[in-house]
Amino acid sequence: MPTVVKIMVGVSELLDNLLDILRTEKLGKWYEKYGDPRTENNPYLGFIYTSFQERATFISHGNTARQAKEHGDLKLAQICGSIAADEKRHETAYTKIVEKLFGIDPDGTVVAFADMMRKKISMPAHLMYDGRDESLFDNFSSVAQRLGVYTAKDYADILEFLVGRWKIENLTGLSGEGNKAQDYLCGLTPRIRRLDERAQARAKKGPKITMVCDNVRGSSYKVEKQ
Ligand SMILES: [Fe+2]
Repeated sequence: MPTVVKIMVGVSELLDNLLDILRTEKLGKWYEKYGDPRTENNPYLGFIYTSFQERATFISHGNTARQAKEHGDLKLAQICGSIAADEKRHETAYTKIVEKLFGIDPDGTVVAFADMMRKKISMPAHLMYDGRDESLFDNFSSVAQRLGVYTAKDYADILEFLVGRWKIENLTGLSGEGNKAQDYLCGLTPRIRRLDERAQARAKKGPKITMVCDNVRGSSYKVEKQ
């Protein structure tokens, strides 16, 4: 290859890399600005949110590891498996902290748990934006749902797990507000499951949409979304 062409290829690669860095930085800035999980600097909400979210990341990385293995990418399976194990340890730590909160202040904690669930647990990156796709996270979460990486069923399973883990049904001596929160939490998992079943039935009847997803490195791939 002539030297001039080599230099041009080099410059073009450098520009590509710079653009990648800028896009990644842009994503990071959006994340910092809009990635608020609505925990309002309240430690009750914060530890309940992280308990839920760490279990969600444990599940989604475990599912990704399983799929990577099935498709023959053992290195990716190993990386996702290690991350899943790490997330599990985080979940254990946070759920133990909330267990202590329930021991000290059952009323305040059950009210905070219900409050957090009413706001819905959004993943930290739910408002991420790459400067091009207004529905970036929605599209990625649709793909995750279709692939079985993280689904509405997982959301309901996590809630059911936490309600059992913190023995919400057995709480006694609560205030009126605490009792309402307890009832709400105990009835929420079946409600979410029913809503999900209806949404799935509707999605099956609707048309399939093909969309194009970009990743941070700029390569595109087509996926079907319902
Ligand atoms: Fe974590």
